[in-house]
Amino acid sequence: MSLVSVADFEQKANGQLEPNALDYYRSGAGEQVTLNLNRQAYKRLRLRPRCLRDVSKLDASCEILGEHLNWPLGIAPTAMQKLAHPDGEIGSARAAGKAGSIFILSTLSTTSLEDVAAAAPDTCKWFRLYIYRDRCLTEQLVRRAERANFKALVLTVDTPINGDRRADARNHLSLPSHLTLANFKAECTQGFVSKCGGSGLNEYVACNYDPSISWQDVKWLQQLTHLPIVLKGILSSEDALLARDIGCAGLIVSNHGGRQLDTTPASIEVLPEIVAAVGKDMVVMMDGGIMQGIDIFKALALGAQTVFIGRPTLWGLAANGQRGVEQLLTILKRDFEVTMTLTGCPTLADIRPAMVVHESAYWQHN
Ligand SMILES: Cc1cc2nc3c(=O)[nH]c(=O)nc-3n(C[C@H](O)[C@H](O)[C@H](O)COP(=O)(O)O)c2cc1C
Repeated sequence: MSLVSVADFEQKANGQLEPNALDYYRSGAGEQVTLNLNRQAYKRLRLRPRCLRDVSKLDASCEILGEHLNWPLGIAPTAMQKLAHPDGEIGSARAAGKAGSIFILSTLSTTSLEDVAAAAPDTCKWFRLYIYRDRCLTEQLVRRAERANFKALVLTVDTPINGDRRADARNHLSLPSHLTLANFKAECTQGFVSKCGGSGLNEYVACNYDPSISWQDVKWLQQLTHLPIVLKGILSSEDALLARDIGCAGLIVSNHGGRQLDTTPASIEVLPEIVAAVGKDMVVMMDGGIMQGIDIFKALALGAQTVFIGRPTLWGLAANGQRGVEQLLTILKRDFEVTMTLTGCPTLADIRPAMVVHESAYWQHN
């Protein structure tokens, strides 16, 4: 079967991934309300195209935190990519570079940040950080990311502990013995087998991540590094304003792909509130549920400057390693360009809020 959409990649990956990895990748928290909402919410938005606007030449390029990108899509941090394919994080980072996209590396990667940097020197890379109980360890990660030429730190703020990921608890999720969390000494993480009979990953997070972190720690991080700091996991205008006021460079509106607190809104639902609060002052980005170019367009129309994909990268990897991620990004980019063309938007600046309307607006008129 030829793969012509992200959904095709998802279907192929479902048939190929080993069951524990598949569950880890696809699941959300709790009853998975937010996981499902992330995708459904896009379908409740209608497009209002404009016509006769010369779309013979398109330019989807943009600049985010000083980096020139070919189009407004990047790869979100997802842990343990070698569970999908031996190409793992290097495959995804190289594919992002070829597409002119940003690649965000998870701290919990199965390839070290130095190896990713060496293998994908031309890719714009950001490093996703969590503040560990051990602040020396946290500082070392920051220094290593700086040395390896990562261009921003993405601090995940929605994970003081892991969400209620029931599939991982049932499966006693652990890393296969041939893989490690490569940013750390092997003896610290190998296998992270559960000691309490649940998810080994949840126990790792509970032992190592610091649940006491607060805005003071964001300030501590700002003093530690010259890199721009992006907060990932913001879901309210109140927190967006606090982030702006202490001088963060950007935000990723995100519910962690529905994996943290269930029944939070879809990212696309909360995006307008955050753009209205801080969109003029800082870079607002988002992730969650993006499956096609139309979804990217809707997020941009509602004020995101760029969007990120999480699971689709893993499906690309599972389907065909680095080549699979390249193919998936090519499909998404073409799809986005078709949407730009058919809505009458030759540049990103032409994508306007009035081009997206919630379905309820049409029902009110009838
Ligand atoms: C398997 C998996 C692992 C993830 N690991 C991380 C992580 O280590 N750090 C983080 O901030 N977010 C992590 N995320 C969340 C993603 O960065 C992103 O927010 C989410 O996947 C976006 O939704 P989508 O999968 O619908 O595109 C993970 C998501 C998945 C599916």
